[in-house]
Amino acid sequence: MYDDRPIAEADHDRWYSALLADENRWGWVVVEDDTPVGAGFLTDYRAHDRRAAFGLYLAEGAQRGRGVGRAALCLICEFAFDRLDLHKLIGEALSFNSGAIALYGRLGFVAEGDLRDQLLRDGQWVGVHLMALFEDGLAQLRANAADLRDLGRIA
Ligand SMILES: CC(C)(COP(=O)(O)OP(=O)(O)OC[C@H]1O[C@@H](n2cnc3c(N)ncnc32)[C@H](O)[C@@H]1OP(=O)(O)O)[C@@H](O)C(=O)NCCC(=O)NCCS
Repeated sequence: MYDDRPIAEADHDRWYSALLADENRWGWVVVEDDTPVGAGFLTDYRAHDRRAAFGLYLAEGAQRGRGVGRAALCLICEFAFDRLDLHKLIGEALSFNSGAIALYGRLGFVAEGDLRDQLLRDGQWVGVHLMALFEDGLAQLRANAADLRDLGRIA
């Protein structure tokens, strides 16, 4: 999200090796009907403070707008709160990313604040909108996502 330059294969390999070796980061491929359609992450895990941040990216085009992101984020939240016993899960979105902000809000994430002029993109300053879901929001998320109960699993 913070880097939109083309990524060289060697850089990508380095990033992937670091991800595998880092016990405070998790990464998953989002798979729909055996087709990889995106990736989800937990980062910045701090066991003592019981918090982490997530990232979620679907491939462009037809993969989006069909509920896959919502299902994937529900699975990430369940992993974060059930398996890692988090108190707080943080989501960050570029301020203009109304789709992501709406999705997080619908799942119970609340606004934490805005980082203004955080990135320079194509000569324009872009802000970052911070949102968080707290452990007491998990029950509501489960209720909101009851229709997804059997749709996915995290491995
Ligand atoms: C943001 C993203 C993960 C959402 O996943 P998705 O599968 O497209 O979204 P869903 O179909 O699950 O939508 C669920 C909800 O999100 C919201 N939403 C998603 N995309 C939206 C859009 N383009 N505009 C407005 N609302 C949107 C809606 O509230 C929607 O609820 P509804 O189905 O009741 O209308 C996905 O579009 C994506 O990867 N985008 C590019 C990368 C990105 O922005 N990642 C987030 C980085 S912070």
